[in-house]
Amino acid sequence: MDLVPVTEGRTTVLVPAPDPSASFPPGSAPVFYNPRMALNRDATVLFLRALPVESRPADYLDAMGATGLRGLRVAGEVGVPVTINDRNPRALGLAALNAERLGLVIETVRSDANALMSSRRFGAVDLDPFGSPAPFTDAACRSAVRYLFVTATDTAPLCGAHLRAGMRRYFARPMNTEYHAEVGLRVLLGFVARELVKYDRGLAPLCCFAREHFVRLQLGVRPGAAAADTTLGRIGYIHQCPSCPGRVEQIGLVAEPEMCPACGGTTVPIGPLWLGCVNDPSTLEAMLASLPSAGLERGTALERLLATLVGELSTATHYDYHVLAKRVGASPPPIETVLERLRGGGFAASRAHYSGTAIKTDAPLTRVIDALTAP
Ligand SMILES: C[S@@+](CC[C@H](N)C(=O)[O-])C[C@H]1O[C@@H](n2cnc3c(N)ncnc32)[C@H](O)[C@@H]1O
Repeated sequence: MDLVPVTEGRTTVLVPAPDPSASFPPGSAPVFYNPRMALNRDATVLFLRALPVESRPADYLDAMGATGLRGLRVAGEVGVPVTINDRNPRALGLAALNAERLGLVIETVRSDANALMSSRRFGAVDLDPFGSPAPFTDAACRSAVRYLFVTATDTAPLCGAHLRAGMRRYFARPMNTEYHAEVGLRVLLGFVARELVKYDRGLAPLCCFAREHFVRLQLGVRPGAAAADTTLGRIGYIHQCPSCPGRVEQIGLVAEPEMCPACGGTTVPIGPLWLGCVNDPSTLEAMLASLPSAGLERGTALERLLATLVGELSTATHYDYHVLAKRVGASPPPIETVLERLRGGGFAASRAHYSGTAIKTDAPLTRVIDALTAP
């Protein structure tokens, strides 16, 4: 295998030389490495570094390590004891070589991830599979003591573009709406919550986001039946009107019929999914403050993402204001103008991190349209 060096954060590792003739070079390489996931890995390192020392996990499992880059960054840039696992012997060999070159002492394990997570517990468990994490989530919920990190790249099933695959994997019915990225994030969160609560444990979303082709969850795990009940109390449905942009959120395990708040029509339930907050503001602030010491420069995509997440409302849907403007035949003003008009009317309003034309607000649809069309 031809290897080339790459540097992420403060860590340089060897990765397979990309095949220039391949349509998706990571997919055909003997060991997987995707440079487009650098921000995802940066967020993990930053998250762990931003934790107070007493809140850091005792150890960290990179359950699907590939080149080992993620786990090696945690070992070297955070200083937490790391286990890197992969069932591919070539991946594990490369991870061990990279650890040796970096002078890092880590544990390497060649196992099926589910077998390993079923037999050992780790302070933090990180799932980063090809596509869906669904087949690994139950074992990860049993293995993770304090933190659970989950990446999903099967955004089409999660968001409703591949409806049946989404229902099979996550036992939820998504819908391909204009807020599909938010639905994908919340369907995954709802699924992880359901996998966790059966063990009398709850979750706290600390830094979760949807970006390009993936969803990333960074969760605190909370022990006890009361924590599990609180988690269960955040599960519910979005009821979307098929005839107009109206929608309403409803907490509960069973979808109760809801009328469209805008036109009175019959809505269609999306879910079950997570309806609680998807981020913890103090965690996000600590991550932002830790950017310089982590060697992750300011002004980067990660800083912009975190800054947007800090101000983002926790509503489970948004309005795409360009789509709305087209619907009412208006020429859309700048997004900041619409947000200011809504806030001036006494409503909460924010952007959403995954789309430049998304507006989150607690205002009713008529007031959003007023804010769009005001002279
Ligand atoms: C998307 S890659 C991981 C990328 C890596 N975490 C990174 O940041 O570069 C998925 C890895 O999971 C491994 N894998 C897939 N199924 C597995 C299983 N059941 N048990 C252990 N490893 C598995 C693959 O060999 C592959 O290396």
